[in-house]
Parts: sequence; C-alpha cells; structure tokens
Amino acid sequence: MRLKILGSAAGGGFPQWNCNYRLSRAARAGDPNVRPRLQSSLAASAGPDGGWVLFNASPDIRQQINETPELQPAPGAPLRSTPIRAVILTNADVDHLAGLLSLRERQDFHLYATARVLGVLDANPIFRVLDPAHVRRLPVELDRPFAIEGPEGPTGLTAELFAVPGKVALFLETGEAQQDFEADPGDTVGVRITDATGRTAFYVPGCARVDQAFRDRIEGGDVLLFDGTVFTDREMERAGVGTKTGRRMGHLPIADEDGSLRALAGADLRRRVFVHINNTNPILDEGSAERRLVERSGWEVAADGMEIDL
Ligand code: MLT
Ligand code: MN
Repeated sequence: MRLKILGSAAGGGFPQWNCNYRLSRAARAGDPNVRPRLQSSLAASAGPDGGWVLFNASPDIRQQINETPELQPAPGAPLRSTPIRAVILTNADVDHLAGLLSLRERQDFHLYATARVLGVLDANPIFRVLDPAHVRRLPVELDRPFAIEGPEGPTGLTAELFAVPGKVALFLETGEAQQDFEADPGDTVGVRITDATGRTAFYVPGCARVDQAFRDRIEGGDVLLFDGTVFTDREMERAGVGTKTGRRMGHLPIADEDGSLRALAGADLRRRVFVHINNTNPILDEGSAERRLVERSGWEVAADGMEIDL
C-alpha cells in the first residue's frame, strides 16, 4: 500500500489566509524551518491497477492534484479521466468536504461516509453538483470492514470506519457548546485501511480523546496518522487568536498530561505521524523544542507530499 499526504494542515491551512500569528508570518516569509501546508487529506493506493482513494476532500484539492502526478489523468487515458476511484469522508468539517465541489464535471467515482455525514451532503443542495448518475453516495456502517470500490470495481483496499470521540461539524453546531459534543458516533470517525497483504494504516485526523478501546484497536498497525491539531489544549487562547480549547474543537492536544503522546505511549505501532496540524501548533517549526519533544517521543510530523510505503 502507498500512502501520500496531500495536506497536513488543519482547517484554514498554513498559513491561514487571515492569520498573522508568528508561525503563519514565518511560513509566508519563507523560513525553511516553517513549511506551508495545505488542508487535511490523504491518498492511498494498493497499486497502479487499483487507482487511488482519497480520504477527505480538502478545499485545496485542485492544487493537491496539480502537485501529485499520480492523481492526474494518465497519458493516453480518455479525454476526461482520473485515477481517483473513490473518496471516503471522516467527518463533515469544511476542510474535509469542500473539495467535493471541485470534483464535479460529471466524473465517475464512489463517495463513502457514515449516514450522518452523507446526511449533511444530502441536506445541502450545493452538493447536487455531484450528479448521482456519476457519483454514488454509499453509506457505511461503523465497525464493518468493506472493500473500497470505484466505478470499475475493487481498488484492492479495504476500509473500516470506527467512531472516535468528536463532534458535529463546526457549521452545524447550535446552542450550548456541550450539547453538540459527541452528538452521534457517526459524526467523526477514524479509518482502518488494509490491503491484500495485510498491511494496516489508521487514519484519524480528528479525535477528542484516546480511550482503551481506541488503544486496543490500533495495536499492531503499520502506521497511525493521528490528530496533531494542537500541542496544548489552551494554545489558541495563549496565542491570542481564539478562545476555544483543542478538546472543545474535538481535538486531543499532543502534550498535556493526558494528551496523545502519553495516551499512545507504548502502543505497538511501526510508525506514528501527526496530521491535521493547526497554524498555532509550535511543532510546525522544525527548530522548536516542541518539535524535538515530539520526535524524541517517536512521532513524525506530516508534511505535504510525504509518502509512506507499507
Ligand atoms: C476542525 O477540524 O476542527 C474543523 O476543521 C474546524 C473548521 O471547520 O474550521
Ligand atoms: Mn478539520
């Protein structure tokens, strides 16, 4: 299986268009230690015949395809074609579904998500730009592995969606903060991706808490791509850019007492990689103490274009 990180930043990207925090400023200034990043998305392939499967469709998808030859129409392929056979969504956040609007143009592919997430698309008429005659919306049940198929058949990859602590998309929040938190198990999921050789990747770009069930599930994985949104829970407030905590946004911090470094320490994983990194997270600076801490703890920090061959 081949994995390619198409975008390693959280919603807004890095630098975010209106962000004047020191990290965004450094990225704009071309600091070699602070590389820009596109918004959250992963591509996976079992081999050339199976094409590619996208996990989340980022608002930056057009640029991501332009920068990734494997995702472009092959020479000699039909005049309208794509090696992208399917898209799987892990939630309905803007950074994970807005790219669907760029995948219009009457191109066949399959779209998989939980009924909750597909319900968000069904309720919003703008997604009718994806003509159902070309894009089949396939509801996925939690904890049931399924062969990922494209219009021409199997991709050679299997996926299993599983609930993780999270919340409804920001734009669907109503009323009281806590009410919409963990509203339904289908709102935010992680994915186990496997191929015929049994290689296993876990993709979890949003997760508010690591419990024992999660630990047990990921044991033995070849790679875990995990929520690296914030380094500390109150980081946005400290940076002066907002008041929400990481957890309130559905994202477990990396470094706190019960953060992901501790919660996942000792897990049996060949590789562990932080993805979905917010523009306030100091690990974006390769020269930072926080970055060193993460790397000393056995984690990698995703960058756009990063390839993982399993
Ligand atoms: C998140 O991951 O918390 C969301 O992408 C936030 C957003 O939609 O801006
Ligand atoms: Mn997000």
